[in-house]
Amino acid sequence: MLSNSQSSINHSPIDPDDLDNNPSQNASLHEVMAARLHRRHMLRGGVGALAAAGLGLTGCGGSDSPAVAPPAAPAPPIPAEKALGFTALGKDLADQLVLAAGYTATVIYSTGDAISTTITDYKNDGTDDTFSLRSGDHHDGMHYFGLAATGNGKDTGSNTRALLVMNHENIAGTVQFMHATGQTNAGTTATLARPEAEAIKEIQAHGVSIVEINKTTGKFTVNKSSLLNRRITASTPMDINGPVRGTSYVKTSYSVGGTETRGTINNCASGYTPWGTYLTCEENWAGYFKRAATDDTSRTAKEITAFKRVGLNQGNGGNNRWTSVVPAVATSTEFSRWDASKTGVSIDGTDDFRNAANTYGWTVEIDPYDNTSKPVKRTALGRFAHEGAWPSNPVVGKPLAFYMGDDSRGEYIYKFVSAAVWAAADATGGLTAGNKYLDNGTLYAAKFNADGTGTWLKLDLSNTAIATYATYAFADNADIMVNTRIAADAAGATKMDRPEWTAVNPTNGEVYATLTENPDRGNTGVSGNNSPNPALDAANPRYWLDNKTQTNASVATQKGNVNGHIMRMRETGNEAGATTFNWDIFMFGAQAKADAGQDDVNWQKNVNLSGLTDFNDFSKPDGCWFSRASGILWIETDDNTYTDVTNCMLLAAIPGTMGDGGPVDVINKANGSPNAAITTDVTITTRMGKKLPATQFKRFMTAPKGSEVTGLAESPDGKALFINIQHPGENTGNATNGAGTVAVTATSQAGPFESNWPGNGKGVPAYGLGGAAARPRSATVMITKNDGGIIGL
Ligand code: FEO
Ligand code: CA
Ligand code: CA
Repeated sequence: MLSNSQSSINHSPIDPDDLDNNPSQNASLHEVMAARLHRRHMLRGGVGALAAAGLGLTGCGGSDSPAVAPPAAPAPPIPAEKALGFTALGKDLADQLVLAAGYTATVIYSTGDAISTTITDYKNDGTDDTFSLRSGDHHDGMHYFGLAATGNGKDTGSNTRALLVMNHENIAGTVQFMHATGQTNAGTTATLARPEAEAIKEIQAHGVSIVEINKTTGKFTVNKSSLLNRRITASTPMDINGPVRGTSYVKTSYSVGGTETRGTINNCASGYTPWGTYLTCEENWAGYFKRAATDDTSRTAKEITAFKRVGLNQGNGGNNRWTSVVPAVATSTEFSRWDASKTGVSIDGTDDFRNAANTYGWTVEIDPYDNTSKPVKRTALGRFAHEGAWPSNPVVGKPLAFYMGDDSRGEYIYKFVSAAVWAAADATGGLTAGNKYLDNGTLYAAKFNADGTGTWLKLDLSNTAIATYATYAFADNADIMVNTRIAADAAGATKMDRPEWTAVNPTNGEVYATLTENPDRGNTGVSGNNSPNPALDAANPRYWLDNKTQTNASVATQKGNVNGHIMRMRETGNEAGATTFNWDIFMFGAQAKADAGQDDVNWQKNVNLSGLTDFNDFSKPDGCWFSRASGILWIETDDNTYTDVTNCMLLAAIPGTMGDGGPVDVINKANGSPNAAITTDVTITTRMGKKLPATQFKRFMTAPKGSEVTGLAESPDGKALFINIQHPGENTGNATNGAGTVAVTATSQAGPFESNWPGNGKGVPAYGLGGAAARPRSATVMITKNDGGIIGL
């Protein structure tokens, strides 16, 4: 269970993203037009559904009106032998951002930045407040929404004016920088009340930013005067739609009808819709809730099972202990709502917040173009540790699919398929179109078979395995949406090594899913709530022994799937609504060379299966995203297992196609199993994509100390790439990882900190106040090519 003290540490020894709760078995205008003409030619030529993907033009006479066109047509597939157009970087451990030669990185939006001209610039000394009008912390998933030249309305093809929408996932590890002398009365063992002003700042630092960016002289900057700038926070009112709306599962004293809740929390990866809205996904929401030490005694057996399956057990203190606040307005429930204990006497929970946690864990839809719109929680997409929700390429007359990862050890990959079929006229539909496509449909979980086939398992009561599940008696489909993990357990989905982002290749519809790592893979025991731990299988075929410190062969503490891998799937018939698919493993993460004392022969053959080198080896893939302009697959890391050798990074790959490799036998040495009882090697046969040559898979950027690299967006011409640097310096004050740095306290307000980026100006123009001693800040970085070209090519 994630404790408050653990959450303040983040990556090591405990990564708050790393939970286990599974107890079941982008061009100039000329170039853009050329691409569109190319697409039309393909359509007239009779190329089918895949060619139509993403255009949405087939049903509306091929109109190129920017008001209705979805994002520009994707670039044609990259020729098979094309090389990436930059020189790959080596690894780096310094507190700096390093970019491939010929490119420039510029910070444009950082934690605490004002999004209004009515408040002061961020001083970054812990005294700033009003985060409802400032950037939140921990920038994460992100999307570029083109804005009309008038500044009001859509122009999906605009390369000069846009809304950048992004998540602010967390404050763990960095909340100390938000307050002058660190967090007051912090920690799970503290008993004194948290100050209300601090809690308000923390709640507002979560959620989503919508900021207008304008391009002048080749660079984008934030327009603080834009009327569309908006913060959505962990207290913004939201509607609950879909099958769970109005049901007993979500009734609270805030919404006795079960139709509303306040806020979105722990927003990790993201998605977008063909109708121009943003999808933000609630990941590790469970940790924010308190449950009284003996709450189980007043809860039903089903409730206890449900709480356990999401890791919200009785005795949980709740991240940041917001429930301890004594509000100035005694009747306020702003803080008490984070207590999911049964404290009232009602039968249905309308006099307390016992059901409050059920109002989180969803995919939330936001219309960035309407600053008065109310966000909507789309319950038909299920409830779990939602990492992201990425759309299939829309095809007129066909249903839409959204691919989703559940990021905890041993959890599942999901797909939602809309009941409605795509109509191009809905491209301007906003949240009304959302009601049409996202409130009715079918949710599936993925089963990966050893022969390279896969099945989408239906999650509703028509699935007998769910309707008759002995562990948990589902009452209705709303119950299945609230307790999605349990339904997927019943259906027999495949436990995966922490499913992070999903991405869809714009040119062929193939789906990629990052599987970041799993130290429990191969353990037959019980770890946390993950019971039993998953055995090796074809889709998760590796465990091994890894030294965290190369110079110390005796520190061999990392076992299991240490560096993760990337799954690739192709739907049968290339239909987003298919119930079967084929898969291979696109790439395996690994360090290029074995650590001292390891078996190099085994390592190269059975761990570094994808043949990674010093210029593209990586660990713990997280973000993965296709540029529509270039066709490049960008891969980002959120790593803590290879950080003895390098900081996190951004890599570029020229993807092939599912099945371009072949079968491979992976020999897993017994000493790599987390289960000490394993004494024999285990061979697993799986399917692997072709090994990419060094010319087609390259490290493009390395990040500052303590940060992960996340969020990816681009202007339609592919000449500005946006990425997020999340939580630099998060290990500050962490005795294990932040040696030599001190936490922010009343006596140590100025560090030294693990990172001083971006204030230190390392790899970017110095950003904000503080200089070389600045408090570290998460930030959105704009990457441009010095010759003004498309990024990566
Ligand atoms: Fe928030 Fe799974 O990364
Ligand atoms: Ca190592
Ligand atoms: Ca992530």
